[in-house]
Amino acid sequence: MTRNQTPQASSKASMHQHCRQEAETASLAKLLAASIGELIAQSPQAHLNIALEGNLGAGKTTFARHLIQSLGHDGKVKSPTYTLCEPYLLQSRKHPFTAHHFDLYRMRSPLEWQEAGFAEYFDMPGLCLIEWPEKAEGTLPAFDIQIQMEAGAEENERTIAINAFSEQGKKVIDNIRATPN
Ligand SMILES: Nc1ncnc2c1ncn2[C@@H]1O[C@H](COP(=O)(O)OP(=O)(O)O)[C@@H](O)[C@H]1O
Ligand SMILES: [Mg+2]
Repeated sequence: MTRNQTPQASSKASMHQHCRQEAETASLAKLLAASIGELIAQSPQAHLNIALEGNLGAGKTTFARHLIQSLGHDGKVKSPTYTLCEPYLLQSRKHPFTAHHFDLYRMRSPLEWQEAGFAEYFDMPGLCLIEWPEKAEGTLPAFDIQIQMEAGAEENERTIAINAFSEQGKKVIDNIRATPN
């Protein structure tokens, strides 16, 4: 994938998880949500950019849905397939923040996200979750976290890798690791 900022070796951290069923994917999304919630409670102005990568059907929208609901959204999380972006207003210990969930698969040109006025979402406290970031061909702001999903041999099996590309992203992954099982 094209990226506009080369990850620094010193701030790289990653974790891998083998999920045998969707419930395990949901558990991982829940751990990530708790860690993000903690970061926002500590740094209410923080913004995280999260790339969601993987083939069609890998589970990107499913992961995003569990993550957004675990962050406190009490309702449906619909796929932004046609709208390109769906917004959510959330809270972490009384600090309001936004989650913008993108699916850039249907963009007709790499800069359509800017033309649609989405650039400001990348400066708001909270997070941007982006499916198919590669469609923007490196024009998006740098990512803090990259989530790669891959199908396994069994129907409901997925491998999920979470990589950090910034100190903030690394903090989020370190928090997940520190969570007791
Ligand atoms: N372990 C799993 N993790 C995530 N999704 C799973 C898993 N097992 C089965 N699924 C199913 O796979 C499908 C993934 O679809 P979706 O999330 O829309 O994929 P994508 O957004 O990557 O195209 C969903 O129907 C989901 O219920
Ligand atoms: Mg999807």
